[in-house]
Amino acid sequence: MSALTRRATEADLDRVMELERAVFSVDSWPESLMRAELTDEHGYYLVAVDQDAEIPHPRGEGTAERPRAAGAAQTLLPRGEGTTGPDCTPGEKSALLPRGEGTTPDCPALLGYAGLRAPRGGSQADVQTIAVAPEVRGWGLGRGLMHALIAETGRRSIPELFLEVRADNAVALALYRSLGFVEISVRRRYYNDGGAAIVMRLQVPATRMQLAGSDRPGETRS
Ligand SMILES: CC(C)(COP(=O)(O)OP(=O)(O)OC[C@H]1O[C@@H](n2cnc3c(N)ncnc32)[C@H](O)[C@@H]1OP(=O)(O)O)[C@@H](O)C(=O)NCCC(=O)NCCS
Repeated sequence: MSALTRRATEADLDRVMELERAVFSVDSWPESLMRAELTDEHGYYLVAVDQDAEIPHPRGEGTAERPRAAGAAQTLLPRGEGTTGPDCTPGEKSALLPRGEGTTPDCPALLGYAGLRAPRGGSQADVQTIAVAPEVRGWGLGRGLMHALIAETGRRSIPELFLEVRADNAVALALYRSLGFVEISVRRRYYNDGGAAIVMRLQVPATRMQLAGSDRPGETRS
């Protein structure tokens, strides 16, 4: 299968919520909040999808969109293996598997999503959320999504990017630290179960700011 990222639309809401609930459980956002996020004028949400599953979309609901042209759809896997990730192993079919038509068997239709709130002209942006389907973790999708959010922050000429992460989320912490985020404070009893959040900040690299408008890795514009 091939993974690509594109801008999320409201038509992705069902699949995003399915993954949101599976990944975040009691901390998952209500659908109304997610819809507002996907349509927020200051937002920037991406979905990572199985390119082979995007079309055809038989019900015509518009969730799927063929890449505009060969080369316009880049994949999200940043480790230099080109555009194709490993096949999902037969038997790993999960409840996340969609809807039949047009999807690659044994792989989730929605591989991941990530969102940014970045008001143009503002001085700060926030990573709102990021999730990768359990079946495809460790492929580099999370890193690719984060790179795309950082790049968009730069394109909007916003110098600082913030996020909150559970203090016990070692995988996410490792990812963020490796991208240059630094811990700036702790919010105790922040989550529903009483868990603490670590607040992290990234000074958006000058190169990102200089490249503003010039790089859109892995994205097919909607
Ligand atoms: C955090 C998450 C998005 C990472 O996505 P992913 O696609 O698996 O991540 P990647 O494959 O791009 O790996 C990125 C980095 O994460 C860290 N990482 C990934 N898997 C890891 C593991 N099993 N153990 C430790 N670190 C790990 C590493 O730092 C890795 O970088 P490296 O491969 O260069 O060592 C994913 O684990 C996820 O969806 N988790 C549940 C939701 C969540 O916690 N979201 C963050 C909320 S703040």
